[in-house]
Amino acid sequence: MMKLTHDSIERNVGLLFVLTLLVLLVGGLLEIVPLFFQKSTTTPVPGLKPYTAVRLTGRDIYIREGCYNCHSQMIRPFRAETERYGRYSVAGEFVYDHPFQWGSKRTGPDLHRVGGRYSDEWHRAHLMNPRDVVPESNMPAFAFLAKAPADASDIEAKMRSLRVVGVPYTDEDIAGAKAELEGKTELEVLIAYLQGLGLEIKDTQ
Ligand code: HEC
Repeated sequence: MMKLTHDSIERNVGLLFVLTLLVLLVGGLLEIVPLFFQKSTTTPVPGLKPYTAVRLTGRDIYIREGCYNCHSQMIRPFRAETERYGRYSVAGEFVYDHPFQWGSKRTGPDLHRVGGRYSDEWHRAHLMNPRDVVPESNMPAFAFLAKAPADASDIEAKMRSLRVVGVPYTDEDIAGAKAELEGKTELEVLIAYLQGLGLEIKDTQ
């Protein structure tokens, strides 16, 4: 049998490929698996609540409209970030996010702590036409959301599925979901989603 020397591995592309894969696999597992069990990544930060039916629907519009293509929701622990956006993000803040909206592209600013930074009226004006409030903005207008009623047809099923993956919705939460959405537009529920972002941790350090 061939001896596994440095030389023989480097001269055998197939073997080099297989062994490289093995090393990556073991390294990857060692890095990722502990995160599933670490308390700091699986325990919600104090005060974290599941999204209300209204905010959950707003979040789905955020995903549908691709807001994450231009906005991240993850403040990194660097001074340049914390001074601009607020306290850096920690894993415990995203325990009820399925899927999370961290994003990796910042055409616009990070939105993780945008909650409460502006009034509802500001958001309304901004989403209807960003240039009305930020003249140099290149964000698209989302005025059509003001005319679309928020879809309540599958909200109960959505909440039940989230419960399966660990979001602690009660039967009352689910039973009341449809009524909560009644008469709301997509614009309103999206603003409600934005206004609650990142409020659990307020200090700026
Ligand atoms: C093509 C890229 C792009 C897309 C898509 C986009 N935005 Fe923006 N957004 C920007 C840019 C650039 C800014 C900064 C200028 C401004 O305030 O309009 C911004 C600013 C914002 C702000 C103000 C943030 C702050 O701290 O001042 C909010 C809130 C926001 N966007 C929400 C949204 C939402 C919600 C969506 C999806 C419905 C969305 N954006 C989609 C580019 C985008």
